[in-house]
Amino acid sequence: MSFGGLIFSNQFIRIKTAIPSSSVYGFGEHEHPSFKHSMNYIKYGMFSRDQAPAFSNLYGVHPFYMCIENDFNAHGVLLLNSNAQDVTLNPHPSIMFQTIGGILDFYMFLGPTPENVVQQYTEAIGRPFMPPYWSLGFHLSRWGYNNIEVLQKTVERLKEYDIPHDVQHGDSDYMDRQLDFTYDKTNFAGLPEYIKALKNDGMHYVIILHPFLTKDEPEGTYKPYDLGQEMGIWINNSDGATPAIGRAPASCGRAGVAGGAGLWAASRRPARIPRPAAHSIDSDSSEPVTVPSTKGRSRHAGRAWPPGGSVFPDYTNPLTTEWWIQMCMEFKNIIDYDGIWIDMNEPSNFATGQQPGCAKNNLNNPPYVPDITDGNLAEKTLCPDSKTFLGDHYDTHSLFGWSEAKSTFYASQNATGKRAFVLSRSTFVGSGKYGGHWLGDNFSRWRDMHMSIIGMLEFNLFGIPYVGADICGFNEDTNYELCLRWMQLGAFYPFSRNHNSIGSKEQDPGVFGEKFATISRSALLIRYTLLPYLYTLFYHSHINGSTVVRGLMHEFTSDPQTHGIDRAFLWGSSLMITPVLEEASTNVLYQRNMIT
Ligand code: GLC
Repeated sequence: MSFGGLIFSNQFIRIKTAIPSSSVYGFGEHEHPSFKHSMNYIKYGMFSRDQAPAFSNLYGVHPFYMCIENDFNAHGVLLLNSNAQDVTLNPHPSIMFQTIGGILDFYMFLGPTPENVVQQYTEAIGRPFMPPYWSLGFHLSRWGYNNIEVLQKTVERLKEYDIPHDVQHGDSDYMDRQLDFTYDKTNFAGLPEYIKALKNDGMHYVIILHPFLTKDEPEGTYKPYDLGQEMGIWINNSDGATPAIGRAPASCGRAGVAGGAGLWAASRRPARIPRPAAHSIDSDSSEPVTVPSTKGRSRHAGRAWPPGGSVFPDYTNPLTTEWWIQMCMEFKNIIDYDGIWIDMNEPSNFATGQQPGCAKNNLNNPPYVPDITDGNLAEKTLCPDSKTFLGDHYDTHSLFGWSEAKSTFYASQNATGKRAFVLSRSTFVGSGKYGGHWLGDNFSRWRDMHMSIIGMLEFNLFGIPYVGADICGFNEDTNYELCLRWMQLGAFYPFSRNHNSIGSKEQDPGVFGEKFATISRSALLIRYTLLPYLYTLFYHSHINGSTVVRGLMHEFTSDPQTHGIDRAFLWGSSLMITPVLEEASTNVLYQRNMIT
């Protein structure tokens, strides 16, 4: 049944349709309060954005949903569209899609089981990558070890307590002034030798890379920029010829690293309620109307920004992949890494648009702005009229993370000569073929544990089963009980990593003393005992497209009581995990909404 909602125009397309039931799952990326959606006129914007988890558009874009019909048959629907868009779920029940470009390229997956829907979906968009076995072990990370001694001390204490620790991550503080493909030879002196020693012990090392590169190092001293410039691989301004210059912490300079972190922290503020701005297309003036964002600058009053800024590699250009592979291969000779973590690839920019701001035109100021945070397509990113190899940034913005993951998959393969390991913050339809995802900059709060289960179930629907949240929480300080419960839950994330932000208290499983370490160890040992099962699930996911983690409704579809369960989850069809998610609880029998 149609509600007469078809509008088809150049920068605004709307379609509204009845759906057979209100058991609807999916759409992303957002922090959803429940796995099964409320249909109470809920509107979700989709446009990739550097945004800590909130009820708003986040890092990735997945215009895909699954519906369990009243006869318990499931189907899935994909709107393959990369423009800024929003979807409204109504109680009729009906769904309304609105997008500001592209076409209505819909795909239907007829199931009839939820697993069949995901298998059919991933057959169309690409089966999930096969993760290396080592990547199913426990990962430890933090932003802000700040020096190699702290890193070594942390690794040592996990070893002393015999806590399984297979993978160590190097966040941006390993870099020299946040420059990709460098390491800090002062604070991390001896890092290459230390990594070799860890590897001799059987461990693996993952490095972070950012997609923005400073253009301000003296000529001839920073090859990634010099070579990229020579190859002409950056995202360009609207003239299609000059590189778009954004602002990123890489341009902070040595003295500015702390300032960079501060600005970064400011970018992690909670989102405001999405509020579309009023836009007008009544002028074609090229006068800049947006200026570099001042958000977060108050904390650094008086500290001048350095001149210049950063360029953004255009990964939709095949030449960029060549450049990236070469840079990753050369860096492998310096730091013997095993996998690559790609961050800030929405792409994030610490300003509204590039220098000198966005011109006033139809792309930068479309007649309708979908329901996205700040209601401005250039906020924290580049101007929509920037040019990429595949077309206007207006159309390709949300493909940045996907295209970077694809290039990085080949870079990781070439550099290591082994199966690729890529972890990406921004994702799009089909990203699972090239890597996994973590759920971004969550908070050390009890509710975030519950939200992480919902996110993990959703990314399994999206064909990205290698997923997990930052165990113990990224932003803010954690505490003993929360972190311990999170270690117990996180032992069952497909991607199990404890990760922390700069300035927060230490939260690795060795820092809270013996009892904590023993309990964490025993939870992780259950995981390790089950690794052959987990690995087999990934194999099935890679070959047949099945989910690895799934909601109970995938297996008990004809029992409507399972449709709303999102505090428990299954590994494959055979193992149910029901974690304690509430403070001061020792069992789950009374947990709220266990069954809704
Ligand atoms: C971003 C990432 C976070 C990382 C930080 C510093 O906020 O999401 O995981 O630690 O940048 O690189």
